[in-house]
Amino acid sequence: MSQFSYQNGVLHAEGVSLSAIAEQYGTPAYVYSKAQLLDNFASYADACQGRDALVCYAMKANSNLAILDLLARQGAGFDIVSGGELLRVIAAGGDPQKVIFSGVGKSMEEMRLALEHDILCFNVESIPELHRLNDVAGSMGKKARVSLRVNPNVDAKTHPYIATGLKANKFGVAFTDALATYRAAAQLPHLNVAGIDCHIGSQLLDDAPLLEALDKLIELIDALGAEGIHLHHLDLGGGIGIDYGDEEDGAPVPVGDYLGRVFKRIDAWRAASHGGKGIKVIFEPGRSIVGNTGVLLTKVEFIKHGEEKNFCIVDAAMNDMARPALYQAWMDMQPVVQGDAPVGTFDVVGPICESGDWLARDRALAIAPGDLLVMKTAGAYGMTMASNYNTRGRAAELIVDGAQVHLVRQRENPADLFALESLIK
Ligand code: LLP
Repeated sequence: MSQFSYQNGVLHAEGVSLSAIAEQYGTPAYVYSKAQLLDNFASYADACQGRDALVCYAMKANSNLAILDLLARQGAGFDIVSGGELLRVIAAGGDPQKVIFSGVGKSMEEMRLALEHDILCFNVESIPELHRLNDVAGSMGKKARVSLRVNPNVDAKTHPYIATGLKANKFGVAFTDALATYRAAAQLPHLNVAGIDCHIGSQLLDDAPLLEALDKLIELIDALGAEGIHLHHLDLGGGIGIDYGDEEDGAPVPVGDYLGRVFKRIDAWRAASHGGKGIKVIFEPGRSIVGNTGVLLTKVEFIKHGEEKNFCIVDAAMNDMARPALYQAWMDMQPVVQGDAPVGTFDVVGPICESGDWLARDRALAIAPGDLLVMKTAGAYGMTMASNYNTRGRAAELIVDGAQVHLVRQRENPADLFALESLIK
């Protein structure tokens, strides 16, 4: 059940009306539901009950400290892609020993920071990266735990910008090079070969490509075992999609069903061979943990009737939510106060000086200037991809918990945006 619902004709986050939030905190604002967040995490945690498994939340989806803290308290680990994200985990009280470090371009400084904090594993993507990590770990008198991100060359059937497991993508070590790369890693004195991982893409509605990738990883683990290279964990990445309300997309696979099928496959492998014995399973979900926990609350500034289109100009823009401009993503827009019949069909656009600054197109809406709208299902890749384009301060972020509202990130003040700049002397 969604934690965002109309009560007496007004959209609420849990027990609080979004009109009241707009009045008190202004717009644009991201509003998240704590109960929804915990429910989403529980769907992973419940399916992992009794298993040697770890859910490392991919914090690129939403890295607000309060969200990280809530998840850490549920036992979550974190999938990070920068030293900055590691510092966020630590600031939020997360456990660095449950941190997986992904990404193709880790700097030496980032490797050093992660080694200082003794993270669980580096997901390495190339031979040069193995050498760099070996050197950094050696200079610190440490051994780095590594996993190779293997590119299983399966088609995730998602938007090309968010498909990552095909041969043509920059990610991972080619499946055909994987064994040789493992052999090279096993020779390096300051590395400890610990795991294997893949991440084939995001917003996958069907889990068949993920299970196909799992089969390919199992094949490799068995081949490695035959050479005496035994792994501690298998990491399947993230990728499970969510329902954005776009009817053309169809419904995503429920998380519990997907995990059930993963564990069933692993059990069958264990029963058939020694390969799967004692292997920990790691998941790196992002969107499916936070996507439907948040809405972007915005106010209608003007209605403008163009020659071909009607525009609903709102105070949120592509700098607040880049997904429509970047991926032509379809995001649901709804009025906060349920109105009568739609008064027209609108493109919902922001104040930024770009034609690409749109949030939704061709939507039948009952709206007037001053009304509030929400972009639904905006909790993932919303605030984390926000920018300061046009010197717009980023939106406030709030978490609703029952009848309580917590301001978890203040609206940025324009003066903060140029505080690090200086005039030449
Ligand atoms: N692990 C790795 C290594 C990743 O690259 C990603 C996402 C995830 C896990 C989490 O995937 P998820 O469970 O969220 O699908 N900005 C795009 C999505 C980019 C995803 C990048 N990688 C969007 O707004 O659709």
